Amino acid sequence: MDLTRRTVLLLVMVIFGFPVIEWAHADMAASKKHAADFDMKQVDRGRYLSMTSGCNDCHTPGYLLSEGKVAENLWLTGDRLGWRGPWGTTYAPNLRLFVKGMTEEQWVAIARTLKTRPPMPWFNLNKMHAEDLKALYQFIRYLGPGGEAAPAYVPPDQEPKTPYALFPSPPKGDRK
Ligand code: HEC
Repeated sequence: MDLTRRTVLLLVMVIFGFPVIEWAHADMAASKKHAADFDMKQVDRGRYLSMTSGCNDCHTPGYLLSEGKVAENLWLTGDRLGWRGPWGTTYAPNLRLFVKGMTEEQWVAIARTLKTRPPMPWFNLNKMHAEDLKALYQFIRYLGPGGEAAPAYVPPDQEPKTPYALFPSPPKGDRK
């Protein structure tokens, strides 16, 4: 290899190679530092609860119909699929933006007293143990703010602009 070719090769490495390696290192260091900011046991437990308590089913776009095959960086960013019924049309909000700027204590207090329109199972969330709610909070904070706000609630007499799942009114006299 002559001198000019070696010089060119070296230049290419300097220009493209080193910054890429540097960038990769910085990225790894950042994610390590990020993990160090959290109690990873709580984060793992929150991840588990997000899956097994159904939060992902509605609050993660496409989760239910893809059998849970959604990259974690999209989890709990809310969904544009509407839930339409006698209550109007609701959308599972972006929980990552919801907890932004909220303390763990505030989250626990809100989750304990939350009451929403269907089909959010708020009555189940109200009963979740504080330790589990804290783990969920840590997991959501660990994911960090991301995605956009879900569409706004649409009243019953208005047509939603997004796709929606339709709940028929329940048959009369079926409930005790
Ligand atoms: C069957 C679908 C469904 C499931 C399962 C579900 N949610 Fe929801 N959630 C919704 C919908 C829809 C709303 C919006 C209700 C409304 O507009 O009144 C909502 C609202 C909320 C809100 C209120 C947010 C705000 O902006 O006011 C919180 C907090 C929440 N859900 C947390 C959770 C958590 C935590 C879980 C898991 C334990 C969960 N949800 C499971 C559908 C669901």
